[in-house]
Amino acid sequence: MKVFISRIIPKEGIEILQNAGLEITQYSGKTEISSTELIAICNKHDLFLSVGNNTIDRAFLEACRHLKGIALMSVGYDRVDIPAATALGIPISNTPDVLSKATSDTAFLLILAVSRNAFYMHDSISKKQWGFFEPTANLGIELYNKTLGIFGLGRIGSELAMKCKAAYHMPVIYHNRKPNKEAEELLGAKYVSFDELLTESDVISVHANLSDETREVFNKEAFSRMKNSAIFINTARGGLHNEKDLTEALEHKKIWGAGLDVTNPEPMAWDNPLLNMRNVCVLPHIGSATIETRAKMAITAADNIVAAMQGKPMPQVIDKQVYSIGK
Ligand code: DGY
Repeated sequence: MKVFISRIIPKEGIEILQNAGLEITQYSGKTEISSTELIAICNKHDLFLSVGNNTIDRAFLEACRHLKGIALMSVGYDRVDIPAATALGIPISNTPDVLSKATSDTAFLLILAVSRNAFYMHDSISKKQWGFFEPTANLGIELYNKTLGIFGLGRIGSELAMKCKAAYHMPVIYHNRKPNKEAEELLGAKYVSFDELLTESDVISVHANLSDETREVFNKEAFSRMKNSAIFINTARGGLHNEKDLTEALEHKKIWGAGLDVTNPEPMAWDNPLLNMRNVCVLPHIGSATIETRAKMAITAADNIVAAMQGKPMPQVIDKQVYSIGK
């Protein structure tokens, strides 16, 4: 059987696919494959290991209904029409768990960096702007005992909450569609309404899936409810916040600062005003980008492909119902 991989992935995943006897095609280009091209390529393969920004919508799925499985090398699946895949009997898997530590590290890094305007300070030095010492200049804010508010408390949010509690004794509040009792017991986290999350948090970190329900939930109204001293962190998906509203909230000092590992669109425009603000730190979507985590993600995706090749359920299938429907 043949598998198509839409990026070069760590060798640990390739070895698993080779050992299972799969014939592998890996895309090594540096530009996104068009939808038409992707359909043409997948029509010559039995399985698809999708990495990056491939749009797996109904049109793609209908044109590639022969696929025995699609393994995403990501935890997010907002670019995939899961109900359509289930209806067509195409199992789709993702890579949960393995990236929670690395992604929460990125959120933690951004919280600390924003609290001390770290990226802006670095840029200033590179622009020869390290001047006269003034005790009242370049001041940041401390995080000790401040309240961490998590929007979408799952695995990544829980890892972040543990770090913030251990480092800064931060009490944790959260808002989810439904309460997460396990996390409440583990972290002493308190479930609050969305409005309470906005008004009571000193740091808000976003870890929810992007869906119609959560798209741009952090907008003008939401930012206006937050504390003037609040830090906004998004390491989930750029579509969860409205970038124009965020920019205005920062310009008008409605909030203290923002740390973004995700933007809308990606890559962001080079002249985006957020890049020149002292209270903003931006990273290029590197949440899971460590050697160890990317190897684990490749292994998880490859294991899912091998299971699909063998006609077995993919261990990380997103919608288990697909197996009761069948092709
Ligand atoms: C994920 O795994 O969803 C990361 O954001 C990479 O896309």
